[in-house]
Amino acid sequence: MTKEEQYLSLLPQVQGLLSGESDPIANMANLVAILHQEMGFWWTGFYRVEEEELVLGPFQGPIACTRIAYGRGVCGTAWKEKRTVVVPDVEQFPGHIACSALSKSEIVVPVWHKNKITAVLDIDSKELGTFDDIDRKYLEQMAGLVYGPQKDIWFAAGCFWGAQKFFKRIEGVDFTEVGFANGLVDNPSYEQVYTDTTGHAECVHVRYNPEVVSLQRLTVLFFKIIDPLSLNKQGEDEGTRYRTGVYYGTPEDSEVLSEVFAKTKQVLGVTDFPVELLPLKCFFPADEYHQDYLDKNPTGYCHLSPTIFELASS
Ligand code: SME
Repeated sequence: MTKEEQYLSLLPQVQGLLSGESDPIANMANLVAILHQEMGFWWTGFYRVEEEELVLGPFQGPIACTRIAYGRGVCGTAWKEKRTVVVPDVEQFPGHIACSALSKSEIVVPVWHKNKITAVLDIDSKELGTFDDIDRKYLEQMAGLVYGPQKDIWFAAGCFWGAQKFFKRIEGVDFTEVGFANGLVDNPSYEQVYTDTTGHAECVHVRYNPEVVSLQRLTVLFFKIIDPLSLNKQGEDEGTRYRTGVYYGTPEDSEVLSEVFAKTKQVLGVTDFPVELLPLKCFFPADEYHQDYLDKNPTGYCHLSPTIFELASS
């Protein structure tokens, strides 16, 4: 079995195991146990955010350091930089905290809840180069499950700065990131996409708890922040990168979305409009500079009217 097949067979088991329990620490404990046992990791555990530091949580493996400061080590770096950190060789990572001399490579995945990092999942290996993008993808999915079920959807709604500000305000949305969807090249830079030749759409990846907010509601809100009749132009922004669309990961989501699309067309009195409804082919997160841009730059450019954000919290 390949590593991806292992994760794919583990994912429904993890979903089943955690779905009946709402206590995040109990869920962390069981997630760590199943990952440690089934994936054969050497050290698997959580550090929880407690005020200014990370404090050791449920884990399996040898004894470990109990507290890690913000920005320190691999764990503190993942927390500070708000991203998964993959370290192929811990000796090459400046500031790595060696709880054990046997640890050779490591991955640290932030746990997001209500748009905040509340913990990190840390996994260590006794071999070099154990972790890659496959581990990142599935561990990110599993880590969020400690607070309840999680689903993903991708919205292209014109300039992604304003779109992210809007979606992260919706109750039930746990995590958002801006990036580039359904284009022709891997890992494009903002500057490349800006030439309008790479085929990507500016997009917001939304991870949400479907028990708190439905895909239907998210999509109805999406239609409130776009002009669905405008082709490749939202506000003052023009180009195929500003096209609108919803990109999904499962056939079930496609059905729900088709219904909302049909109803919206009916209300508008049109038989067609240029809003894409497609499976997600690819998504590449944009640089940190673009993430939460309007939180960092409150007076920055936004194509959405200031009052529209009230809809997100209505
Ligand atoms: N190596 C981690 C510290 C935790 S142990 O790996 C369990 C770090 O550098 O943050």
